[in-house]
Amino acid sequence: MRVLVTGAGGRLGSDVLARLRDDGMRVRASSRRPRTGSDVEWVVVDLATGDGLVEAVTGVDAVLHLASSPRGRTHQVDVLGTRRLVVAAATAGVPHLVYISIVGVDRVPIPYYRHKLAAEQVVAAGPVPWSVLRATQFPQFLDDLLATSARLGPVLGDRAVLAQPVDPVEVAARLAARLAAGPLGGIEEFGGPQVLRFDEAVRAWREARGSRRPLLPVRIPGRLGRELRAGGLVTEALPRGTRTWADHLADTYGGTTRR
Ligand SMILES: NC(=O)c1ccc[n+]([C@@H]2O[C@H](COP(=O)([O-])OP(=O)(O)OC[C@H]3O[C@@H](n4cnc5c(N)ncnc54)[C@H](OP(=O)(O)O)[C@@H]3O)[C@@H](O)[C@H]2O)c1
Repeated sequence: MRVLVTGAGGRLGSDVLARLRDDGMRVRASSRRPRTGSDVEWVVVDLATGDGLVEAVTGVDAVLHLASSPRGRTHQVDVLGTRRLVVAAATAGVPHLVYISIVGVDRVPIPYYRHKLAAEQVVAAGPVPWSVLRATQFPQFLDDLLATSARLGPVLGDRAVLAQPVDPVEVAARLAARLAAGPLGGIEEFGGPQVLRFDEAVRAWREARGSRRPLLPVRIPGRLGRELRAGGLVTEALPRGTRTWADHLADTYGGTTRR
């Protein structure tokens, strides 16, 4: 099977490339800038303009759509760019498009999530047989969030927000399994092994980093806070990943260097 992976140079993309290579798939990987790498055919695609799309989708058996722009031009890239991709894939006769989304895009009122939900709808309404996999947050995302917050002094956060970090290596395996199984014509969800309260996640993070920075509780107001505390970012779907937040912290921090 020959697969086009968009956003292949990103965090999830690198795990997906490794997985697809291990599975013996022929991979065409897209980025906005020229890249080279063994075993992978890199092509240049910009979803904001559509440049490179027609060539990228020609001759592939599936598209794995990971590219996203959460911090700027999100509508242009995630919604309109996904539409450009679907149109190009349909014209080329691609038989399967898999889109990665996020658990909670239909519940949690975050502007980025509105765009992801709209992109899901573009995929589902289009003529290309499709699958959507909604994953929960990657642990690196939570780690980066806490590190950024801690730069200000205490770690700010709503103690009762629920999270379910999932390892992107396991998400990559799930995406590869979906490619092999063929179009679902529906949405499946995939989360990590544990649902954690924010204060539990912070406690483990502080211990792993040997940090004394306190958690300064802040109650997120309104519907956003209610959804986050009620589990808008978590899923009961089975199977789940197996790698825990503690596994991520051990891999990342191992020792007890103070940060
Ligand atoms: N991070 C999480 O916790 C999480 C959880 C669940 C689902 N997801 C979803 O998983 C996907 C990948 O997430 P990630 O964390 O790996 O993101 P990432 O590291 O930011 O990778 C996204 C990639 O999108 C590409 N991109 C951005 N603008 C583009 C454009 N105009 N045209 C073409 N490509 C463009 C970029 O590649 P180049 O710079 O090489 O062009 C970038 O590497 C996203 O769809 C995200 O919503 C993420």
